[in-house]
Amino acid sequence: MTAENKELTLGVLKKWKGKRGALIMALHDVQGLYGYVPWDDAVIVAEEMGVPVARIYEVLTFYNYFKTKSPGKVIISVCDGTACHIKGASDVLAKMEETLGIKDGETTPDEMFHLQVVRCLGCCGLALVVVINGKTYGRVDPVTIPGIIKEWREQMEGA
Ligand code: FES
Repeated sequence: MTAENKELTLGVLKKWKGKRGALIMALHDVQGLYGYVPWDDAVIVAEEMGVPVARIYEVLTFYNYFKTKSPGKVIISVCDGTACHIKGASDVLAKMEETLGIKDGETTPDEMFHLQVVRCLGCCGLALVVVINGKTYGRVDPVTIPGIIKEWREQMEGA
């Protein structure tokens, strides 16, 4: 896990820390960031929420909704929280869908990209926000999207 990813995870957990009964919401937000709940992040959730790791494991395996494996190599999260929505999240999502040829919640046939809409990512000052594999893009404009996707594709194909 990178330091940037850890910071992102801690950021979305802030609002749930110390709140009883918020474990599922906390895991939901972590899945919103990465498209699944990576085990390292599940451990952070346990620490932040003050619950045993075994309890997290129980929740992740009980609910079909939660994924413990990445649905694609590159997870693209488009924020549609209030601040990002006002700044045109739907236009950014539409451009993402057009560029990738998939809809929200889908993975490209080559399993390279997974696209998802998430709630507030905790950095509203940068609205409109898109997070790609833990890297935050702020003040995103739809015209920049094809270039961003191209860069990621080249990076992944060269990896
Ligand atoms: S609403 Fe998008 S980061 Fe808060």
